[in-house]
Amino acid sequence: MQVPQIKMTGDSPSMSRIAIGFWHLLQWECSPQQIIAFVEQALELGITTTDHASIYGGYRCERAFGKALALAPGLRDKIQIVTKCGIEAMCEAKPDNEIGHYNTCEQVIIKTAENSLKNFGTDRIDLLLIHRPDPLMDADAVAAAFTKLKNQGKVLHFGVSNFHPWQFDLLQSRLEFNLEANQIEISALEFEVMHDGTLDQCQQYRIIPQAWSPLAGGRIFTGVGERAVRVRSECQNIAREIGEAGIDQVALAFLLKHPAKIQPIIGSGKIERIRSAAGACSIELSQQQWFRLWVATKGHWVP
Ligand SMILES: NC(=O)c1ccc[n+]([C@@H]2O[C@H](COP(=O)([O-])OP(=O)(O)OC[C@H]3O[C@@H](n4cnc5c(N)ncnc54)[C@H](OP(=O)(O)O)[C@@H]3O)[C@@H](O)[C@H]2O)c1
Repeated sequence: MQVPQIKMTGDSPSMSRIAIGFWHLLQWECSPQQIIAFVEQALELGITTTDHASIYGGYRCERAFGKALALAPGLRDKIQIVTKCGIEAMCEAKPDNEIGHYNTCEQVIIKTAENSLKNFGTDRIDLLLIHRPDPLMDADAVAAAFTKLKNQGKVLHFGVSNFHPWQFDLLQSRLEFNLEANQIEISALEFEVMHDGTLDQCQQYRIIPQAWSPLAGGRIFTGVGERAVRVRSECQNIAREIGEAGIDQVALAFLLKHPAKIQPIIGSGKIERIRSAAGACSIELSQQQWFRLWVATKGHWVP
């Protein structure tokens, strides 16, 4: 089965139900040719959405991905590029940063997005997110930057990441177009956003909830804490009931069942793991299987 596309509203971008995150691209130690092969194999599975950020790899991941795209004419048009701005990291590439901080000033957003365009060697970013809520965020300034980038055709869609509903509402209130996504931490181990109003808001406004660390950054497989052990054991039980399923697939099926239409972003550079993740799209957990995972994480019965 191919990974289906999701489109939440007439205006929102069409993206694959499962995405790939390139945070650790440099650690994968791939040549540009290997990156191309990886993306092409993902496309064969129906996965078209790629997730990036200006700061990944000390500001070097976007360029590494762009270098690969440059060798494969036509590939850019088959994928969606999601990237993020607003974090200023302390690293070699930013000698002026004495401390890690946020900066969501109008000019910084515009400059960072233009730099991302250069890094990817493309004329448009499909979805640009504010990476983290900035306590100094001036919503008018962010709205001005987003509007300019949209009018210039440099960014097609906009969203946020790690925003609480009220922070989302503040920024949305200053925009004449819809924010389309909120990228948040969601996994079978961490799903506070199901209970603090974040996913309710996504469902209400048909915002794409993009799940970062959907496999808890690997802790689903290797975590040694009580909760991780409980959740892994319940994933194994359910996997056995389904037959032929892996615990990664059960953990992802837990997210895919949520009516807000969560888009898990898998952080692996290994195509067999991406193929396995894609297989989760054909698994439908029963209501009771879903709540067994809920109970395993929470450590108590439903009230
Ligand atoms: N917006 C934000 O603030 C934010 C924050 C964090 C991440 N992100 C985005 O979210 C993406 C995903 O985050 P993540 O990397 O933490 O996600 P993840 O998919 O939860 O975790 C990736 C880890 O799980 C392991 N893994 C995946 N499938 C596996 C399998 N079938 N069996 C065993 N191990 C498996 C990977 O190992 P291998 O590498 O060995 O395959 C890797 O160590 C990032 O790349 C980034 O794009 C966004």
